[in-house]
Amino acid sequence: MKILVTGGAGYIGSHTVVELLETDYEVVVIDNLSNSSEEPLRRVEQITGKSVDFIQGNILDGELLDQIFSQDKIDSVIHFAGLKAVGESVQIPLKYYENNISGTVVLCEAMARNGVKNIVFSSSATVYGDPHAVPITENFPTSATNPYGRSKLFIEEILRDIYVSDNDWNIALLRYFNPVGAHKSGRIGEDPNGIPNNLMPFISQVAVGKLPLLSVFGDDYDTHDGTGVRDYIHVVDLSQGHLKAVERLQDNPGIVTYNLGTGKGYSVLEMVEAFKNISGKDVPYKIVERRPGDIASCYADPSYAAKELGWKAERGIDEMMEDAWRWQSQNPQGY
Ligand code: NAD
Ligand code: WQD
Repeated sequence: MKILVTGGAGYIGSHTVVELLETDYEVVVIDNLSNSSEEPLRRVEQITGKSVDFIQGNILDGELLDQIFSQDKIDSVIHFAGLKAVGESVQIPLKYYENNISGTVVLCEAMARNGVKNIVFSSSATVYGDPHAVPITENFPTSATNPYGRSKLFIEEILRDIYVSDNDWNIALLRYFNPVGAHKSGRIGEDPNGIPNNLMPFISQVAVGKLPLLSVFGDDYDTHDGTGVRDYIHVVDLSQGHLKAVERLQDNPGIVTYNLGTGKGYSVLEMVEAFKNISGKDVPYKIVERRPGDIASCYADPSYAAKELGWKAERGIDEMMEDAWRWQSQNPQGY
């Protein structure tokens, strides 16, 4: 089976390409390298001993997509390509709508033209907005508070409309919780541009001495220690969820939605403590104001994915920390 992976040079994409190659899928990657480089794919080839067919290009380029679909018999698409910085999406919403939404429309048009109708889409727990309760099940109401989140919600709706118009499509909407960690080899991992927005890369850059101090955004939330609680999921577990979703599409399920999370919530201070224990490094921090838009608690009920996909996250918090630290300490400047 041959899979087209959009955004395959990125953080989650590169880890998923490793899992695909190791399971003997053939892989074609399209990525415009707007938030990555070719280096992760070179390292994926070293890890797996297999070659990656890489096309540098934009998913907004329908002609290029036609060429790819006509040259290779693609069975399914795993669609990671997208912009993902929440704050930036507030500053430049049209860029997010064009890249994420128009990009998906152009991709789906090309898929339809070429008779490829299986797609796994990277959605996000952000579509649950500020959830009324935790753990979160797939049937919770959805909402968005920023253009990034809205782009994910709109794309989910567009994919539902495509399915209504043509039942031959098989579509998996995967709602990721908070991906962290790295491949065991320490060769690929998360490499954000500039100062990280997300907690885990911030902690590891403080530990490695690139950043002086972690700002903990608020300690007065309604959580056990007052700091925000999230469902951190190892990126390799998350990647393996995509392989299960690709398999699931072969059973012609129509359109399906799964939470990919662990079901466990950790606070910011618990994450700092766990990281310190594993790395032996100090992570100095100070408590600052809440970050606008943040919520108190967000964690998944992952039981539907367990039942339907036969997938569950296997890697616990210590393994997430060990692997994040191996990547960061062996690649202090990233790629
Ligand atoms: P990433 O930025 O590391 O990877 C995305 C890749 O897509 C990058 O390599 C980028 O160059 C590429 N890309 C962007 N626009 C493109 C376009 N128009 N054409 C071709 N390539 C393009 O991000 P990631 O963390 O690996 O996230 C992958 C997907 O998962 C994204 O859609 C993101 O919104 C979603 N997601 C991520 C998280 C997270 O916390 N990392 C959580 C939920 C959902
Ligand atoms: C986690 C916790 C912060 C940084 C974001 C997106 C979401 C999804 C995943 C794509 C929160 C606290 C953070 C710091 C801190 N991405 N924190 N100091 O906000 O849950 O989710 O990434 O879909 O859409 O919104 O993740 O890692 O930014 O924050 O105290 O420097 O860490 O307040 O409680 P978040 P995060």
